[in-house]
Amino acid sequence: MKTIDLRSDTITQPTDEMIEAIVTAHKAGRFGDDVIGEDSVVNELQEKAAKILGKEAALLVTSGTQGNVISLLSQTSRGDEIVVEEQSHTFLFEAGSMASLGGLFPKPVKGVRGYILPKTLKSVINRDDAHLARTAMVVIENTHNYAGGTIIRPEQVQALVSVAKEHDLKVHCDGARLFNAAVALNIPAKELVKNIDSVQICLSKGLSAPVGSIIAGSDEFIHDAHRMRKKLGGGMRQAGIIAAPMIVALEKMVDRLKEDHDNAKRLYKKLEHIPNLIIEAPETNIIFLGLENLSIDTMRLSEELAKHQILIYGGYGERARFVLNRMVNREDVDRVADVVGGILTAL
Ligand SMILES: Cc1ncc(COP(=O)(O)O)c(C=O)c1O
Repeated sequence: MKTIDLRSDTITQPTDEMIEAIVTAHKAGRFGDDVIGEDSVVNELQEKAAKILGKEAALLVTSGTQGNVISLLSQTSRGDEIVVEEQSHTFLFEAGSMASLGGLFPKPVKGVRGYILPKTLKSVINRDDAHLARTAMVVIENTHNYAGGTIIRPEQVQALVSVAKEHDLKVHCDGARLFNAAVALNIPAKELVKNIDSVQICLSKGLSAPVGSIIAGSDEFIHDAHRMRKKLGGGMRQAGIIAAPMIVALEKMVDRLKEDHDNAKRLYKKLEHIPNLIIEAPETNIIFLGLENLSIDTMRLSEELAKHQILIYGGYGERARFVLNRMVNREDVDRVADVVGGILTAL
């Protein structure tokens, strides 16, 4: 029986074309020392990514977490305060990096489906007062993982940006799944990061590259980010070996994210009628099942599903996360729906 892995879209394997792209670049002698800017594949990737994101420049980084921390640290100073959504990845799941590495003070605020309302942002920005930390930045997560792959729309982004700019705040977008939002809205990704100072995109999630993220912004930001990447040990040598699959991810894998979104909707349709289950229609590739009103928690559900070769993470308390991805097809979705439905209705 096939194992169906819904733990994350990070489990996606590289495509054959990605592996071929590495070999082709190697045979063409294109790899070089990227620490001194001599890997032509990395340079091509960075130029392409900057263009797609509508920014002056871009930089290859090892991971989403590294891209976020570089973006935060290189645009703020120790002791500054950063406004984050209380369930955002930068606040909850990056090992406290902004505080431990940058001396930055996170100010978590409650969003609506992952979106920090402009009036909320306005109300938490500190006045210029020696007693208070300087509020220096706000982070937007798009799509928002923990809210259920929710999309922050361009007009919502601009409303937040205008409050931020009125108060001299930088705006960073954690766009680990920015292309999921762009594909679902059928708009270019750059529309979602207009007027934003820095953005991080992951190519290693639904887009299936084995490794790597990109950060993008102004020439000045990327200049500073380059030094910060070095400080954090992120300077890589023949990095074209990871950049080649990333180019394939950007050029060939974006449009197919729609399949993951369609599969998420299919799963939702098959589960929405289960009594006492809390479930919202997915906007992209992530669905949470709220188990609060059922006599099972995520850990036990994950153990029951594992008996049927279906994998989810068990650590999400009473909310079970299912992440649709390229390794899961329609038939798999139907099997998952049958098994989950069977377990939850038999309680
Ligand atoms: C919203 C979000 N931001 C950032 C990251 C970090 O990415 P990485 O695992 O590459 O460090 C993730 C990873 O799952 C994520 O979901």
